[in-house]
Amino acid sequence: MEAVLIKGNEVSRCIKDELTEEVQKLKERNIRPGLAVVLMGNDPASAIYVRSKGKACEEVGIFSETYLLEASTSEEEVVSLIANLNADKRFHGILVQLPLPGHINETTILETVDPVKDVDCFHPVNVGRLVAGRPYVLPCTPAGIMELLHAYDVSTDGRNAVVLGRSNIVGKPMANMLMQKSHGANATVTVVHSRTKDISSFTKNADILIAAIGQSEFIKADMVKEGVVVVDVGMNRVPADNEKGYRLTGDVEFEKVREKASKITPVPGGVGPMTIAMLLKNTVSAAVHQSQ
Ligand code: GUN
Repeated sequence: MEAVLIKGNEVSRCIKDELTEEVQKLKERNIRPGLAVVLMGNDPASAIYVRSKGKACEEVGIFSETYLLEASTSEEEVVSLIANLNADKRFHGILVQLPLPGHINETTILETVDPVKDVDCFHPVNVGRLVAGRPYVLPCTPAGIMELLHAYDVSTDGRNAVVLGRSNIVGKPMANMLMQKSHGANATVTVVHSRTKDISSFTKNADILIAAIGQSEFIKADMVKEGVVVVDVGMNRVPADNEKGYRLTGDVEFEKVREKASKITPVPGGVGPMTIAMLLKNTVSAAVHQSQ
C-alpha cells in the first residue's frame, strides 16, 4: 500500500490563515508584528529562502524588512546592525539567515540577537530553555515537524523516533523536543550521524524517521521498516538537465520509500513551508510577549 502524503503546503496554509486573523486582532491593540531578516553574501539557496520568508510575512500582515549585506561585510558591522535592530521597536523578531560567510563567527552573531527577538531559537539562552522544557519559542523546523505529526495523527508517545543528523538547526533541537516529558512528545529518541556505525541497524527500528543530513536520497527502502512514518528535511540541489540546471531532492529516496512507509513528507511541499509558518508564528508570539 502506498503511503499517505503529509502535505506541508496544506497544513502551513491553515496556520497562515489563523495567523492572519490573529494579526488582524492585534491591530486593535496597536500591535503590528515586525520581523527583520539579515542576509549576508549571495548564496542562491539562502536568497530564495529569504525571499519566501518576506513574502510569507506580507501574506499574513507581518511587517518585514530584509537587510542585504555584502559577503565581505566585517563582523563588527554585522554586530552593530543587530544591536540597532535589537533597539528598533518596529521589530519583534530578528532572523540572521545561515550559513554565514567564513570570516564571521556564527556564535558571536547569534549571541548578539536579543533573546526576546530570537525567533529562530538559536540563542543559547533560548536553547537552554528548550532543553529544560520551558521554551520561549520553538525552533522553526522542528516545531513545523511536530505540527505535521500532530496534523496527521502520528502519535509519538512511546514510539521509536530516529533522528538522522545532529545539526544545531534541526537534529539536536528535534531530538530534544521529541524526548520531552510532555503530551505530544514522549518518544524514545535515537540520534544517528556521520560517525554512527551501521546506520541501518537504527533506522530499521524507527517508527518515526526524521532525515536531516543533507545527503541526497541517502535513506533507501531497505533501511526502513514497513509502516514507518518518514519526515524528510532534506533540500538538496542535484544537477539536472532543466531550465534551472538543478532539481530539488530530499534525504530520502522518495519513490521507493513511499511504497513501504505509512506516511511520508514530499520534497518540496513537506517540511519547507512549515518552517516558514513557524517563523511567522514565533514572530507574532514575540510581538505579543514584547507588548505586555
Ligand atoms: N538556514 C537554514 N535553515 C535556517 C533557519 O531555519 N533559520 C535561519 N536563520 N537560517 C537557516
